[in-house]
Amino acid sequence: MRTFLIAGNWKMNAGPTDAAKLAKEMVAKWEGKTFKSEALLCPPFISIPAVQAAFKGTAFQTGAQNVSNQDNGAYTGEISTSMLKDAGCTYAIIGHSERREYFVENDELIAQKTKKTIDDGLKAILCVGELLEERKSGKQEEVVKKQVNAVLNHLGKDVSDQFVIAYEPVWAIGTGETASPEQAQEMHKFIRSLVENSWGKASADKVRILYGGSMKPDNAKELLSMPDVDGGLIGGASLKADSYSEILDTAESI
Ligand code: PGA
Repeated sequence: MRTFLIAGNWKMNAGPTDAAKLAKEMVAKWEGKTFKSEALLCPPFISIPAVQAAFKGTAFQTGAQNVSNQDNGAYTGEISTSMLKDAGCTYAIIGHSERREYFVENDELIAQKTKKTIDDGLKAILCVGELLEERKSGKQEEVVKKQVNAVLNHLGKDVSDQFVIAYEPVWAIGTGETASPEQAQEMHKFIRSLVENSWGKASADKVRILYGGSMKPDNAKELLSMPDVDGGLIGGASLKADSYSEILDTAESI
């Protein structure tokens, strides 16, 4: 049985003041209640300490939206794994489609970042997913296979305990359009088979595969009920305490 991971990606929203307020609202929603799922919120770097402070003493975790592939040193504007750990992060999102598209991150860099994150003791959430044209021409499996295998090959060894994959079809991100539960299940099953090819069945069964792309309270149940969907990477709906909590609540009810 895999534990659901309900991860919020705040993207470039919420500075320290707003982030602290939002994090406190989330904590307040769960006051006196426990959850079996993992609840993770990934604010912008500058807001991580404020969110971490608001989550202190709770089961909510803090993560980063990106990380450097380098150690500390002369890399202007970058943030290292050791800084994230010092700030209390447990996870880093890597290779989000917005980083691939707007910041020209390629499979090689993403593989290096994933390895560094895991080697340095954090958990990595690797994002993969096809563009609309690629889906329309039936290339989704080919595209995702290349993205996943680039990282698995670079990792070399089995790190299934620290490795999460988020399947995020690019055409569903921030568009209000979601993959159908069947489309998500088909791709998640395919991704799990890729992990199995590298690490064997027992490890593939351990790795959590999240769905991302316009997950909302009203579609979370059908997506999270699919056998290979182990949680969500949630953008827009994680920016409100109500909608994030409803999705977490839905995971708890499955
Ligand atoms: P969205 O974003 O939920 O707003 O579509 C998801 C993501 O980009 O991780």
